[in-house]
Amino acid sequence: MRTWTPQKIRALKGARRFATVTCYDATSAALIEALGPEALPLVLVGDSLGMTMQGRADTLAVTLDEMVYHTRCVARALRTPFLLADLPFGSYQTGDDDGFRAALRLVKEGGADGVKIEGGARVVPLTRRLVEAGIPVCGHLGLTPQSCLAMGGFKVQGRDPAAAERLLADARHLEAAGCFALVAEGIPAALGAAMAKALAIPVIGIGAGAGTDGQILVWQDLLGLTPGRVPKFVRRFATLGDAAAEALRAYDAAVRDASFPAPEESYT
Ligand code: KIV
Repeated sequence: MRTWTPQKIRALKGARRFATVTCYDATSAALIEALGPEALPLVLVGDSLGMTMQGRADTLAVTLDEMVYHTRCVARALRTPFLLADLPFGSYQTGDDDGFRAALRLVKEGGADGVKIEGGARVVPLTRRLVEAGIPVCGHLGLTPQSCLAMGGFKVQGRDPAAAERLLADARHLEAAGCFALVAEGIPAALGAAMAKALAIPVIGIGAGAGTDGQILVWQDLLGLTPGRVPKFVRRFATLGDAAAEALRAYDAAVRDASFPAPEESYT
């Protein structure tokens, strides 16, 4: 079992704000692990890997096998943060039995400590069943990317009072169903704060303002690996894409002028 548990994450509520991040591979997971026990309590193998790893425009085509594969890669290097994995689109919409089996695969084959499920009241029965079976569940409300077709794109949700009330009601249902935390994505800051206030479980925001208990960002976004425009809610805490380009240019130049490899980089 990893150091961070659902109980410890729940206990952060009201004690301190916390940062979390997505991750899809063992090299990145080892960097997270090296931060020590207090830095990042939770790591998510998100189905955003459809974009970050596979170059797709959305998450819809990501398969359960792909989620299991990436979760396993991260699991090998991660000992401290709680490892959460997404149930991908199509793995639970066909029925709760399918969703249950998909979650089991992420835990048993992938090494996940829990699963994240997008949706409100409609995923409550599956959430209850998983929690009863001993699988921690994190909810996900607001701009849920798996619903991008129905939402007409990646659009901020809960802007009008009725929609905001519906999201708050969904959040309460998910808490009552046993979720240990909730991701709130792409909602007005005031609603993010209201959700965090209404629930006893931590609300982890992404594009949900500063009033949530925690934040989550996509690895590539926060490290500045993604070229071009990023969503308004992203802050690039580094520009590693530029550093990588510089290193590749230096490598190319060193090969061309025969300064690489040097004698000390060669075998006698
Ligand atoms: O798939 C993902 O990375 C996510 C986060 C953006 C919350 O769901």
